[in-house]
Amino acid sequence: MQSTNETGTIVDVVDFHKSYEGRSVLSGVNLTVHPGEHLSILGPGGCGKSTLLKGLLGLISPDSGHISLFGENIALLGREERNALLRRVGMAFQLGALFDFMTVRENILFAMENMTNLTAYDMEERVHRMLASVNLPAAARKLPSELSGGMRRRVGIVRALATSPDLALLDEPTAGLDPVTSAVVIDMIHKLAAEIGSSLLCVTSSVEVAFTFASKVAILHEGRLVAKGTWEELHNLHDPWITHFLDVRGYKPGGRTEQEETKYA
Ligand SMILES: Nc1ncnc2c1ncn2[C@@H]1O[C@H](COP(=O)(O)OP(=O)(O)OP(=O)(O)O)[C@@H](O)[C@H]1O
Ligand SMILES: [Mg+2]
Repeated sequence: MQSTNETGTIVDVVDFHKSYEGRSVLSGVNLTVHPGEHLSILGPGGCGKSTLLKGLLGLISPDSGHISLFGENIALLGREERNALLRRVGMAFQLGALFDFMTVRENILFAMENMTNLTAYDMEERVHRMLASVNLPAAARKLPSELSGGMRRRVGIVRALATSPDLALLDEPTAGLDPVTSAVVIDMIHKLAAEIGSSLLCVTSSVEVAFTFASKVAILHEGRLVAKGTWEELHNLHDPWITHFLDVRGYKPGGRTEQEETKYA
């Protein structure tokens, strides 16, 4: 179920600063995500995208600033309250981060057992249905070590969404996948999220993935989210760095129908 807090926001980040060993990575990030919103955060390698997601999960603390999920400042919560809040969040980590001693099925069930009230039958049914939807119908009994990197990534996405989270955080969800599988996976994420009504936040360094994933993209540059908009809106800012970054990989929007634009809005 979607949250209804006073501000009606799912994510509220205010002036988030983070340095590692004296080197500033995030220097005043402001970000708001509303219920049902799909947003990509786009920035070059090493600019702090994973750091931002780790901040949202409370895995790292901000040096200064505030991070709220579902209207609650996570720094002010006790462990139990924070865990209860995080049961509403699905996270697909950049490297999959599956338990290597559990099969694929057990990895996904483990998340559901901890984060949902589904019956055993419904959980099993969901594991098999979702694995089939990412073209991995026969992977349930395999160990992560028996899968390719791309397969592990797809399992990680299934695990993040199998719990019907109000918010799903996806770190480079399609890195290392071939273009066809990448398109299938993004489509699958949208279908599952539409069923659940989840808000989605995807971080990526790929211009194409960012705009395929969401029509609105926020740009992370020099430690801040410096702009947010559609491909056209970002171009119309005439900011030399943003224009260069958007154009350098040769991506051009197109090939998507108006109906799809509405679907991904
Ligand atoms: N625990 C840490 N200790 C020290 N430096 C770190 C730590 N985590 C990240 N960094 C540094 O902070 C910067 C941002 O890292 P981060 O992983 O957030 O970037 P990213 O945008 O996710 O990169 P990529 O696109 O490669 O995934 C990098 O220079 C990284 O080396
Ligand atoms: Mg990263």
